[in-house]
Amino acid sequence: MSEPQSTLEPDYNYRVVRQFTLMTLVWGVLGMGLGVFIAAQLVWPQLNFGLPWTSFGRLRPIHTNLVIFAFGGGALFASSFYIVQRTSQVRLVSDQLAAVVFWGWQAACVAMPISYVLGYTTSKEYAEMEWPIALWVTFVWLLYGYLFFATVARRRMRHIYVGNWFFGAFIIVTGMVHVVNHVQLPVSLLKSYSVYSGATDAMVQWWYGHSVVGFILSVGFLGMMYYFVPKQAERPIYSYRLSIVHFWAIISIYIWAGPHHLHYTALPEWAQSLGMVMSIILLAPSWGGMINGMMTLSGAWHKLRTDPILRFLVVSLAFYGMSTFEGPMMAIKTVNALSHYTDWTIGHVHAGALGWVAMISIGSLYHLVPRLWGAERMYSVRLINAHFWLATIGTVLYIASMWVNGITQGLMWRAINEDGTLTYSFVEALEASHPGYVVRMIGGGLFASGMLLMALNTWLTVRHAPRAPAPDAELTAVTA
Ligand code: HEM
Ligand code: HEM
Repeated sequence: MSEPQSTLEPDYNYRVVRQFTLMTLVWGVLGMGLGVFIAAQLVWPQLNFGLPWTSFGRLRPIHTNLVIFAFGGGALFASSFYIVQRTSQVRLVSDQLAAVVFWGWQAACVAMPISYVLGYTTSKEYAEMEWPIALWVTFVWLLYGYLFFATVARRRMRHIYVGNWFFGAFIIVTGMVHVVNHVQLPVSLLKSYSVYSGATDAMVQWWYGHSVVGFILSVGFLGMMYYFVPKQAERPIYSYRLSIVHFWAIISIYIWAGPHHLHYTALPEWAQSLGMVMSIILLAPSWGGMINGMMTLSGAWHKLRTDPILRFLVVSLAFYGMSTFEGPMMAIKTVNALSHYTDWTIGHVHAGALGWVAMISIGSLYHLVPRLWGAERMYSVRLINAHFWLATIGTVLYIASMWVNGITQGLMWRAINEDGTLTYSFVEALEASHPGYVVRMIGGGLFASGMLLMALNTWLTVRHAPRAPAPDAELTAVTA
């Protein structure tokens, strides 16, 4: 790693990193807890309670927004603010703006679920927030971008560490697609209509939707990976050159892959084919990054036996490799004809979401917490170990059950008798899916209980930290 080791560390703003770290855990527990609840609703529909506010349709977007923006976003804010300061060797340019970004983001994370539960939604997936919230998010995001790039501009060395390139691309592209997808005409304070219509609206939405996958859930977390994997393994990144090729290749290809969400729709054929081809090409840079992370462990594999934090990071890379192999396969039109609308997509989503996004965040936060509060290590390594197994077994149960369900549903829906009638009714396919829903709920429950252990371990670490965290002061333990 290029991070210089100086004995005289600059005074960093760790307050905002600590705040985002704690809120990431809070939102993680809430968002995943809600995931388990909606998984239970699919097992026992009575849990909808016959009320609009508690119906699956309203709670599902709350789950997705909380885990992506509040939990995933929180982990990205915390890690990017930490990394940009340490690799640039300079404090964030403004403490006041950092506080506005923190509180502004939390306000948005509270406003979103409240508005969805009350039924205010644009109905665009992952962009459900109505226009006042979308405007507020744009404002906070611009401040975040300013803080990040101004800090990079004031860095004490010529070099910009590769992790910051990934964070930079994540910030720019997320801002861009958020603004374009949210161009809408307000008709009242809480209702608006998209300016796009028909197939154009669908295409803009999935250009946005896939960029959320690409630039938040992939590129952002790769920025995290490029810092914490070498740090925890105490090895330099395997190939710096590969990381640069990886960066340019992934950012130039991801943005074209959106149409694979709209196969066999009114979207022009050429656009669907373009999306398919770009998705297949995307396998190469994705695996380039995965291999770069994995190979960083060369000569350090033995550490996996004793270091559960490293295990989280490595297993997350394995799931990243798996989901970025599966994604391009699902983008092939003939495969998508089977997988689309089925639980296979849900399995793919959570292979990436639990296996990659959550696990890399968990590993990185376990690395960060003791350093942020001046403790030597996390309070209990045994709890981290237990968390690791809960998360891994939970993820495997979740995705395996959804694969079985997805393929069963796809095959049952397309089965046709000799006289051309359908072999199975929809309800028969639903009945066949029931055992899978039970297994998914159990897997999700295991994963979410691991998050509770993490919250407990963090609380104990902070409470037993050798000294009270000096606000914003650099701690000597951190420099180790
Ligand atoms: C090379 C990389 C990837 C490709 C080409 C890819 C491709 C795909 C395809 C073809 C679908 C199904 C679309 C449909 O039938 O509706 C899909 C869905 C999805 N993928 Fe991926 N995927 C990739 C990686 C990832 C990763 C790493 C994540 C991280 C979490 C992820 C998250 C999602 C989500 C959230 C959806 C569901 C979108 C929705 O319908 O709401 N993907 N992906
Ligand atoms: C305990 C962990 C979790 C459980 C039990 C869980 C459960 C669920 C359930 C039941 C659904 C609805 C599936 C359907 O409509 O058939 C869902 C959707 C979704 N979840 Fe989770 N989830 C968990 C964690 C996460 C995490 C950590 C993320 C992201 C970082 C995530 C992202 C998503 C997304 C993007 C969708 C929408 C998928 C689509 O539309 O294709 N989930 N989740």
